[in-house]
Amino acid sequence: MRFNVFEWLTLFHILRFSHGFLLPSFMDSDTGKHLYEFLESHDWVYENHTVVTPDGYHINAIRLPRARGEIPSNKQKPCVLLVHGYASQPQLFMVQLNDSIAMMLVEAGFDVWIMASRGCVYSLKHEFLTSKDAKYWDFSFHEIAYYDIPAYMDHIRNVTGNEKLSFIGHSMGGLIFLAFATIRPEYLKRIDSAHAWAPVVYKKYARTTIDPKPWREVRDEHILKGKKNVANEFSQLRMWLSIMFCHEKSPFLDKCVALQDDFGPDRSQIDKSKLIVYMTNDPSGSSFKTYLHMLQSHQAERFQFYDYDFFKNLIVYGQFKPPLYNLRSISGEVPIIISYGINDYFAGPEDFERLIAETPGAVGHIVPWPFFNHIDFVYAKDAKKLLYNDCIRMLKMYATVTEA
Ligand SMILES: *[C@@H]1O[C@H](CO)[C@@H](O)[C@H](O)[C@H]1NC(C)=O
Ligand SMILES: *[C@@H]1O[C@H](CO)[C@@H](O)[C@H](O)[C@H]1NC(C)=O
Ligand SMILES: *[C@@H]1O[C@H](CO)[C@@H](O)[C@H](O)[C@H]1NC(C)=O
Repeated sequence: MRFNVFEWLTLFHILRFSHGFLLPSFMDSDTGKHLYEFLESHDWVYENHTVVTPDGYHINAIRLPRARGEIPSNKQKPCVLLVHGYASQPQLFMVQLNDSIAMMLVEAGFDVWIMASRGCVYSLKHEFLTSKDAKYWDFSFHEIAYYDIPAYMDHIRNVTGNEKLSFIGHSMGGLIFLAFATIRPEYLKRIDSAHAWAPVVYKKYARTTIDPKPWREVRDEHILKGKKNVANEFSQLRMWLSIMFCHEKSPFLDKCVALQDDFGPDRSQIDKSKLIVYMTNDPSGSSFKTYLHMLQSHQAERFQFYDYDFFKNLIVYGQFKPPLYNLRSISGEVPIIISYGINDYFAGPEDFERLIAETPGAVGHIVPWPFFNHIDFVYAKDAKKLLYNDCIRMLKMYATVTEA
């Protein structure tokens, strides 16, 4: 079957409205699928949960309470909360199906909760703002760490009766954990153990070809354009292009594969038939302020609060420089496993080593594959063998349930 551009366009629109029911047979059936449709089509047992944060955001999460065919019971299970990275979304942890971290955790007996961070397409509601309001997008990872994680921890405790839970965060999800650990120590006590996968807190030794300008320039250009966020505006186009050019039978497939080199070249771990699924999932939206906040931190080489620039910092923080997320203040009692790949182009091994050295309770875990990169944590063909088995084994060592 061959398509011309017009037919592709038509197909794309059909796809948008049907959420993936009418794909050509050579395309993976998960291409472009909406989160809930994905869960239904694979027959996963799931629940929708929404929590309203103190600052009014409606944060959604998917709960996977048990395996397919498992009989519901009142027996307590250890809970685990999964948090995705910048402009990503919960499906990231599930697209590898039975070999995904989400399903493996379910099968290992965990009660699994996967949060959709504020600003992602699945968490766009607010008590009195809409996602069309600039005010809605006035948040960064700070608010996710300060409000969303504690709100979910309380909610999970209310629903399950479990005092404590384990945490897994990929990329910015791991960075969020570390920020959370410094600014919400009272909640940190309720963590059994945490796994931060490739948290790019420092980036001095990054090898990526994406080299942003100084953050003040980036900010000023953004203000000039009058835009609120980055990824939501971008994702439609990207989805459209991915579907046209990155399916398994496309003559451009190798180009799509080459695009992934920015994460660190590791082509042997790319599942070419699934690439289109991954590419149509992300990016799924977040605020520009989040991006700028990370950029500021990376360029300042310090893990710091949002930088409003000198005088406004004085008003907001009472000092010219933004305060630090003081990693050294973290109680060393909670095991924090910082996993990284030595071929991660977003941050070098030296950056992760610095982070580990500064974080009490942290131990480094180098994924045993020399080409392991930033995105392999969720998409590598062999992630189960290289990472998930070990990760689950380590989680189980510390996971607790609260006896009623
Ligand atoms: C979860 O929410 C989505 C979107 O509102 C809905 O389509 C789906 O049916 C819900 N699923 C369950 C199990 O409640
Ligand atoms: C996934 O696991 C379930 C059992 O938990 C099994 O029924 C199903 O066939 C598996 N799917 C694949 C594609 O292996
Ligand atoms: C948890 O339950 C308490 C007591 O019922 C309630 O006050 C609180 O709002 C609940 N918190 C969440 C996040 O659901």
